[in-house]
Formats: sequence, C-alpha cells, structure tokens
Amino acid sequence: MNGKILITARSFRKTEGPHKQILRDAGYELVDCPNEHPLAAAELAKWVADVDAAILGLDTVTDEVFAAAQRLRVISRYGVGVDAVDVAAANRHGVVVTITPGANSVAVAELAIALLMALARSIPYHDRVAKQGNWSRVQGMELAGATLGLVGLGRIGREVAQRAAALGMRVLAYDPFVTPENLGEARVELRALDDLLAASDAVSLHLPLTDATRNLIDARALARMKPTAYLINTARGGLVDEQALCDALVAKKLAGAACDVFVKEPPDASGLVALDNFIAAPHIGSATAQTTLKMGLMAAENALSVLRGERPAGVINPEVYDLE
Ligand code: DGY
Repeated sequence: MNGKILITARSFRKTEGPHKQILRDAGYELVDCPNEHPLAAAELAKWVADVDAAILGLDTVTDEVFAAAQRLRVISRYGVGVDAVDVAAANRHGVVVTITPGANSVAVAELAIALLMALARSIPYHDRVAKQGNWSRVQGMELAGATLGLVGLGRIGREVAQRAAALGMRVLAYDPFVTPENLGEARVELRALDDLLAASDAVSLHLPLTDATRNLIDARALARMKPTAYLINTARGGLVDEQALCDALVAKKLAGAACDVFVKEPPDASGLVALDNFIAAPHIGSATAQTTLKMGLMAAENALSVLRGERPAGVINPEVYDLE
C-alpha cells in the first residue's frame, strides 16, 4: 500500500467505477467516511490523521483539520467551490487544494434552466393540486421573449446563456471579470449589476462565494428586481440574504425564487422553505450520473497527480508549490 485516501464526497463514495479503481490501482487504501451531510471541521479532523489525500464534498476545512493531518498532501474537492476550505491555512501547512473545473457545468446549467421552467409554470404547485384532484391553475410566463439576467459568467453561466438563448430568451450578464474583449462567443449583453436586476424577468446566480460576494443579493438588490421576476440560485446559499429574500417573497415584491443551495444545509423548515412561491432542492446541481463519473475521475486524477509530485490543472493554490 502506498497510503490512504479519505473520501467524504457522498456520490463519489456510493458509485463504483473508474474513479475509485484508479486510486486502488495506484496502491491506495480508500477510507470511506459514512457521512450523510458535509462534516464540520471538528468532525473532519477525526478522519485525517493518517491519510495522504482527501477527496471532499462540501466539508469545512480549517486550520484545525490541517493541524490534525500529519501526512496530508492534497485536498481534492469534488466540485468547484472552495468557500468551505481555508486556503490560507492549506498554504501554511503545505497542502495543495484542487477542484474539478468544468466537470459539473452542464449539470448545474441544466438544473438552473429546470428551476427557471418550474418557476415560470408553477410546476410544484400544479403537481400538488393535480394529484389532489384539484384543477386550480395559475398563469405562467413564457420564456421566449423574456429576459434572463446572469450574475456570473464563468463556465456554468455560459452554459446557461447558451441554453437560454436557444429558448428564445434575451440574456444579460454581469461579471466583474468579463469585458467585451474577453466575452468570446457568449450571446449575452453585459450590464452593470443594478441595471441587470432591474431589466430581468429572471435572475440566475453563477458566481463563487467570497468575502466580496457574500449577501450580494440583499434587500437593496431584491428591491431593484421587478415584482414579477424570479430568482434562481444554484451557486451558493451565502450569496443571498435569505431573510431579505423571504421578506420579499412574502410581500410579493418578487414573484418567486428557487434555490438548490442554502446558507445552512439542510435549511430550517420554517422561513423560505415554508413559502408557496419558493422552490427548494437539496444541493443537487452536480447530481447526475454523467457528472458523478466525470467529477469523480477528475477529483481522483487530481489527488493522484499531486501525490506523484505533479501539478494538475485544477490546483487553486499554485503558490503552495513555491512555499514548499
Ligand atoms: C461545487 O461544485 O462546489 C458543488 O457545489 C458541488 O460540490
């Protein structure tokens, strides 16, 4: 045996396939952590003492975890968000952090479009009433001709833009890192955030959670949106002030919202999830058969690559190599 690799990412653990086989073939023992929710730092710290690599879901990784991990060389995130990983602490402990860029873009984009359609045609409501034998109907909104505002135009935002354009939507985008020069082939109109919020019939979030983006969609931002508009969040819960969203939905200052992500997962049963004009999903953005395998293989390859002393493409703290 070359060593041990801890796996907490649930769909990675629960699916057999080449993503696990390449780890075993490389001589590593897989340590399966039977968690059903992302681990808090104190819990994760109990699992890392003798592992060389950790393939993680949305678990919290702090100094406490690194301090408990004597052999750890790589945190391989199964996904793209690193908001739960203290990257500065990883640098201090000489641990490489990797992500799986692009592997879940199509799955998340398809979910954002699915939630948009579910809102536009009140699918959860109609499902409920039809099954109760109640034929009450609410009027929907046609997507063709409507305007979608994308906040964030990275890999996932661009996949959403393509699909929305194919549905006949006008697509606006706000991204501080995208200019007309590096826009490429995306069929979108770039706008300032406030203009995009005011002009859109639906707004979909596709940006990472950082100190700069936390609560980006607060009461002020929500007040700029049309009362007939929808908000979709498949990115991170912390991007939205959930209390402000709840207030806006209750006051009908916003027609509806759909979130696959929450500040606390699972969210409390009160508040947002109790509202009729709110659709909730349990963080299923990447949960397709195809993405599980793609993301799994990439996460496994990233871990092995670091353990071999290489530098995979998904490294998000390349400075750690210089610090070493
Ligand atoms: C991501 O890519 O970070 C998703 O939230 C799944 O982990």
